[in-house]
Amino acid sequence: MLSAAGEVLARRATPVRRRATLLSTRVVARDTWWQEFACPDIAAAALPGQFVMLGFGLDAPGSWLLPRPFSVGWTGPGGEVGILLRTYGGGTRALSRLEVGQKALLLGPLGRPFETGGDAPESPIECIAGGVGLAPFIFLAAREAAEGRRVRLVYGERDAEAVFDPGLIGRLTDHEPELFTEDGSAGRRGLVTAGLDPASPAWLLGCGPTPLLRSLAAFAREHGRHLQVSVEEHMGCGIGTCQGCVVRGADGRWVKACIEGSVFPAEELDWGAM
Ligand SMILES: Cc1cc2nc3c(=O)[nH]c(=O)nc-3n(C[C@H](O)[C@H](O)[C@H](O)COP(=O)(O)OP(=O)(O)OC[C@H]3O[C@@H](n4cnc5c(N)ncnc54)[C@H](O)[C@@H]3O)c2cc1C
Ligand code: FES
Repeated sequence: MLSAAGEVLARRATPVRRRATLLSTRVVARDTWWQEFACPDIAAAALPGQFVMLGFGLDAPGSWLLPRPFSVGWTGPGGEVGILLRTYGGGTRALSRLEVGQKALLLGPLGRPFETGGDAPESPIECIAGGVGLAPFIFLAAREAAEGRRVRLVYGERDAEAVFDPGLIGRLTDHEPELFTEDGSAGRRGLVTAGLDPASPAWLLGCGPTPLLRSLAAFAREHGRHLQVSVEEHMGCGIGTCQGCVVRGADGRWVKACIEGSVFPAEELDWGAM
């Protein structure tokens, strides 16, 4: 059983705002960067599924930019916070141009983490990731592997050039993902949902574009599987004040993805409205 929402909320650390130095940055796929920031407070407190708002701050070059949400992709023993960043528009392009030694503003950790059923470490977990939806699962797989928990990582991209360095994923999580590409140029050909096993009893965790999450929700409903999803809504503040991130709950309420999510048990959402 999932913890009550209140228990999940209680496990979260109070978010902090930190000006953090970029320790390393490298291109790991087409339009995609892996960045590591020195941010010990957030690294120590973050849980898999949580995110940070990443920006420049009002007193810095690039201050026109509202911060953007990014999953915590990994935390290192030296207080590093890893971010997998793919460019879409002006914000992510500006953030991708950050150079080693420059500083960015991180606010976090934010949001509701994945619930992994910590009382039953022998139960398996399957993580289904589309694109940069892989980021929270790198963090989760690394954490769970350290606890001896089996994690199946299934990762889909459009084509080989978009695939995030599998060697680095292996180094960070201790095992490489099962890979799907839509055109078959790397891994198995097809959508990542082709990796779903109807007979498996494992908890499903999903992260990626909304059509993927919708397919996962339909699969989970049909096969009676437990599913949590992390939704990728646009976010203005990340802390519940701007209403920019609302999604429709299954009970008809509008819920703020930044504080009540971004991870939701699938049955809490109205999939017809997503
Ligand atoms: C909780 C959460 C976690 C996230 N984690 C990550 C992460 O780990 N790595 C990562 O790269 N991104 C992640 N994102 C998405 C990221 O925040 C957006 O890509 C970013 O805010 C886009 O800003 P922008 O200024 O570049 O684009 P904008 O100028 O805001 O948008 C430019 C255009 O691109 C479209 N667009 C924006 N974002 C996306 C997207 N994600 N997919 C498809 N089209 C898009 C917009 O609709 C618009 O048409 C996450 C989002 C959320 C809510
Ligand atoms: S991002 Fe502002 S309320 Fe959720």
